[in-house]
Amino acid sequence: MKVELPLILVNGKDSFLVKNFEGILHTHKGIIKLEELKEKSYGDVIKTHKGHTFKILPFKSSDFFRHFKRCATPIMPKDIGVIITICGLKPDSLILDAGTGSGMIAAYLAYFNKYGEVITVEKRKEFAKLARENFKLAKLKNIHQIVGDVNDIAEGFKKEFDLIVLDMKDDFLFIPKAKNLLKVGCYLAVYNPYIEPSKRVYETMKKEGFSELECFELLKNNYEFKRVGTRPMTRVWHTGFIVIGRKIY
Ligand SMILES: C[S@@+](CC[C@H](N)C(=O)[O-])C[C@H]1O[C@@H](n2cnc3c(N)ncnc32)[C@H](O)[C@@H]1O
Repeated sequence: MKVELPLILVNGKDSFLVKNFEGILHTHKGIIKLEELKEKSYGDVIKTHKGHTFKILPFKSSDFFRHFKRCATPIMPKDIGVIITICGLKPDSLILDAGTGSGMIAAYLAYFNKYGEVITVEKRKEFAKLARENFKLAKLKNIHQIVGDVNDIAEGFKKEFDLIVLDMKDDFLFIPKAKNLLKVGCYLAVYNPYIEPSKRVYETMKKEGFSELECFELLKNNYEFKRVGTRPMTRVWHTGFIVIGRKIY
């Protein structure tokens, strides 16, 4: 299959994003003339002027995390995965995501929600612009972006949501509004790198009557297999705490 843009060029742990067929890509293993990619197929290789080869692969959702531009700290794929599965995401959901930040979770939620829509709210214009570029790169058309403070905007929402995800400062303040905006039987997920705000979120959600309430962190430990033995290679394993609850009334 002939390549389409965007695509990625991979050599070992190196991965380069290619967004057009013009100009030159500089890598530490030499340069690549991008127009040479036009006639290639996925799985082919392309050589740098120093003779190193890069495998040509399609840009997939698994590449969002590595290749999206970053502003605020994004939610990691492992944490996004657990939010998607526990919260019963179906492909025709209406989802509210606040704040957008780099747009990482918004992009994954949109990708796995093909027939639905993600409304994502970000109060900082420059972050919203960066996230927009990421959504364009990922060719996601089912994301509606709003620039503003979610606390002010929420009153205007006419529809009820299938899922609400919060990852911003003082999320606990938004919980009563989030409960009003959710359909019965649907979930609210709140992410925070610190335990104190997560405890406050948990207690507020308990007071608001959320069911199936849990607060947890997910630890992903990668291993390296060496001649001398096997050991964990993940140095920083903490990412964030997740509080999830289900609206039952
Ligand atoms: C940690 S980032 C979110 C990262 C995002 N979840 C991701 O996966 O890329 C938090 C964002 O929330 C935004 N924010 C904070 N308070 C907000 C509010 N009241 N309304 C809208 N956005 C807000 C911040 O500007 C920041 O960009």
